[in-house]
Amino acid sequence: MRTTTARAYPNIALVKYWGKRDEARILPAAGSLSMTLDAFETTTTVVPAPGRATDILELDGEVADEEATRRITAFLDHVRALAGSEQRVIVRSTNSVPTGAGLASSASGFAALATAAAAAFDLDLDDRALSRLARLGSGSACRSTVPGVAVWHAGDDETSFAEPVEAPDMRMVVVTVDPGRKAISSRTAMRLTAATSPFYDAWVTSTEQSLADMVEACEDKDFTRIGEITESHGLRMHALIQSTMPPIRFLRPQSIAIYDAVEKLRETGIEAYSTADAGPNVVVLVRPGDAEAVATALNGYGQIRIVGPGPGAQLLPEGSEVPAATEERP
Ligand code: DP6
Repeated sequence: MRTTTARAYPNIALVKYWGKRDEARILPAAGSLSMTLDAFETTTTVVPAPGRATDILELDGEVADEEATRRITAFLDHVRALAGSEQRVIVRSTNSVPTGAGLASSASGFAALATAAAAAFDLDLDDRALSRLARLGSGSACRSTVPGVAVWHAGDDETSFAEPVEAPDMRMVVVTVDPGRKAISSRTAMRLTAATSPFYDAWVTSTEQSLADMVEACEDKDFTRIGEITESHGLRMHALIQSTMPPIRFLRPQSIAIYDAVEKLRETGIEAYSTADAGPNVVVLVRPGDAEAVATALNGYGQIRIVGPGPGAQLLPEGSEVPAATEERP
């Protein structure tokens, strides 16, 4: 075993993943498609900890609580099973934006951890196997091992991985309305949706159709169609989530105001399309040449950042280790 460091970036889905058909293996009910970003990255170091009985997680310079550590240990158990090892480790992870700030996502976190841990345990994984491994940490993480636009096939344990898709060059204008941690996790909200929404089955079948249409639109480099499917599919997800019992609402008045502003921009001839994940922040999909104008138009609605397609998860050279937390766990 050796100490390793990896970096990965979050992704924003254009066809959303919402619902599992297998909770333990994190197999999605339907496929999805996303763009890995070139900002808001996570950097993670895995350090062998011989003689320790438990793993340690240090997040942004502080020892993490038991719940967060348990989730990391459950993931590392998959890595240990593949490696035939019982070795415990210290995981040191930093996000370029504060953790829980809406954009520091579990996708970049588990893509970076999967990449660093696979190397630390001397696993020789190809791209598909790495994506499958990241999936076991957080579903959307399997798309962050892949650069640019990625499709995640629903599949079974063997075939549920993400891979790159041909797509036109695009930008996203990220409008952060609220950087706070969300009240309910995607995982919990997703479970509640599948258990209680009367619309869930229709969501799953229609998502397969949206995905097929989206892959075709990407291959045709048809930005208008990509944008239309993106805005529609994201709103369908939020409608679905609102139909749970008790209801869950992630979009706020300010989020809706951004959707309205983007619709107005379209009336003036600028093609822009909104989407939002499980929170109030809105991401606007645009052609590269329109990014500045859209960012300017949305100034005042929240914190604005223009992002583009980013790299897949990658190992960093020795010397890139995340520094140890100052405080030690008893
Ligand atoms: C709204 O991947 O965080 O961002 O698999 O339970 O860890 P788990 O869920 P997670 O869910 C992401 C949901 C989403 C849509 C998407 O990214 O496709």
